[in-house]
Amino acid sequence: MNSGTKDYPYEIKNLDPEEHAKVFKQFNADGGVLEDFIRVGPKGYWFPCGFAELAPKIYNMEVRPDDVWVITFPKSGTTWTQELVWQVANDFNYAKAKDIPLWNRFPFIEFALFFNEEKAQKEFGCDEENKAMLDAANKKFDQVSTMQSPRFIKSHLPLSLLPPALLDSCRVVHVARDPRDVAVSYYHHYHFFRFYGYSGNFKQFWNLFIENRIDWTPYFENVKESWRMRNHPNMLFLFYEDALRDLPSTVKRVAAFLGKAVTEEQVSRLCEHLAFANFKKNLSVNYDILKDTRFVRNEGSFMRKGKAGGWREYFDEEMLQQAQRWMEHNLRDTDLTFPSVV
Ligand code: A3P
Repeated sequence: MNSGTKDYPYEIKNLDPEEHAKVFKQFNADGGVLEDFIRVGPKGYWFPCGFAELAPKIYNMEVRPDDVWVITFPKSGTTWTQELVWQVANDFNYAKAKDIPLWNRFPFIEFALFFNEEKAQKEFGCDEENKAMLDAANKKFDQVSTMQSPRFIKSHLPLSLLPPALLDSCRVVHVARDPRDVAVSYYHHYHFFRFYGYSGNFKQFWNLFIENRIDWTPYFENVKESWRMRNHPNMLFLFYEDALRDLPSTVKRVAAFLGKAVTEEQVSRLCEHLAFANFKKNLSVNYDILKDTRFVRNEGSFMRKGKAGGWREYFDEEMLQQAQRWMEHNLRDTDLTFPSVV
């Protein structure tokens, strides 16, 4: 497709027809809008082909010194962390948070990568409400560019695909989660969001995940890019499992990182606000807004279990061994370890 230009240093490759046919067998369900996938750069980051247009725009965008970014591999607790960060940075403005959905307060900059295909226009353009949502999703990059400061921006991109000045210019929070729980959560996500047209079972999904054929994989490359920078003064590296175990400490770490003094009372109220049972009911963050639209299938929910270690119920003996080998291989050159879960 594009072998690297002045505006974008990375090669973008389409799948060959054989791989396309193989992968798309699992993306053929009703309502799917994806047409093709691409691999980007030397690590071969995998995306729907809509990313090709966005990639140079995001890479070359201007960042502002007071931006706050939350970057994660998908399903690592992004939404939870976004709300935490936003509340601390905005002096606990619960009224504003209730009025403005998180996806507008804290836009997902590359959201349009799923939808700028003719098929999506046809699929979503069937009534005014769906069309308006598709337009809003497609304009997330523009929304970020014209937002008032301080901006709060979500991305699942690894640091190497984000603006090179990002970390030296503004604050970045990365949240990581055990990849086996990520895979389970992501599998449900692929079924919940109708636009993937995903029809595979968990074992098939797991295989795609470790073969780096799922959006934003390779998982370990993505996470390790941030891990390597965890001691940069503008990077705060968190784990989902730590937040689950001790949310007040995570809130205090975020507050210290953002230079905010917080009282025990404020921390305690925020933890109550962020508790899974409350979060699941919170219409500003729970994506229930998408129910009854063509974006999602109506079974399941974005806020699913909110636990650590649930992957054990999904892995058979073969997958357990695969996971162990895969993790050992990918962790051999790093001191990254995931918090143990009791
Ligand atoms: P599960 O599917 O395992 O339940 P992301 O926001 O990155 O997509 O991550 C979604 C995952 O975070 C889901 O995991 C979701 O339930 C979990 N999550 C969201 N809010 C949470 C909260 N308040 N407490 C714990 N987990 C939460």
